[in-house]
Amino acid sequence: MNKALRKAVIAGNWKMNKTPSEAKALLNEIAPLVKDADCEVVACVPYVDLTTAVEAVKGTNIKIGAENAHWEEKGAFTGEISTGMLKEVGVEYVVLGHSERRQYFGETDETVNKRTKAVLKAGLKPIVCVGELLWERECNITEEVIARQIKLDFYDVTAEDMKNVVIAYEPVWAIGTGKTATADQAEEVCAFIRATLAKLYSKEVADGVTIQYGGSMNDGNAAELLSKEDVDGGLIGGASLVAEKFAAIVSAASK
Ligand code: 13P
Repeated sequence: MNKALRKAVIAGNWKMNKTPSEAKALLNEIAPLVKDADCEVVACVPYVDLTTAVEAVKGTNIKIGAENAHWEEKGAFTGEISTGMLKEVGVEYVVLGHSERRQYFGETDETVNKRTKAVLKAGLKPIVCVGELLWERECNITEEVIARQIKLDFYDVTAEDMKNVVIAYEPVWAIGTGKTATADQAEEVCAFIRATLAKLYSKEVADGVTIQYGGSMNDGNAAELLSKEDVDGGLIGGASLVAEKFAAIVSAASK
């Protein structure tokens, strides 16, 4: 399968931005700008915005995602949110293993793996984030780091379930820094992720997985990044909070 047959997914990761009323206003602004998109358009929003966001995108082509999910169905896990709660609200995607969760909240590949399996079991689509630190790139171990994350994060995930998985390659040094990976650097690692999946599963499975790039992707650099064979979409932080910029990235993915 080649790039043209994979579904491009452009997802905004709003992080800890926008109150419910602000979320509604931004989605109302984005919706008419992306209505003709020839790709999947997703907004991953803070938990408290989810109900408002799902309501706001009714009748549009925008899907709503959460920014994390716990692996247990319920119980004594103060501050956590279950997949059942997300499903009932109408969420379709869940960002998992974002580098900010790994860096600031002790997320490990083991917990990313548990969350990934729970999200898939619930019929939701995980957007699993992987990426190397600047120090790791400088030490020339990017491929080792990425292979380790892919092997651990998808441990015990079946080939069938991989059809519902999106992987986001987000080099940590490019997140929120304005330093984008070059299109060639992004392609190199996204192709490496696909090759790793081919070894773990099969070429067919690997060819079907949507792999996004994330890290300072914006309306100016999206077209070049998205033109690469193994870059099937983007996970957008800052630029997803500005309707015109996000819409321009969606339009770059639709060509
Ligand atoms: P920025 O686009 O703000 O660099 O954030 C990228 C990101 O972390 C998306 O998940």
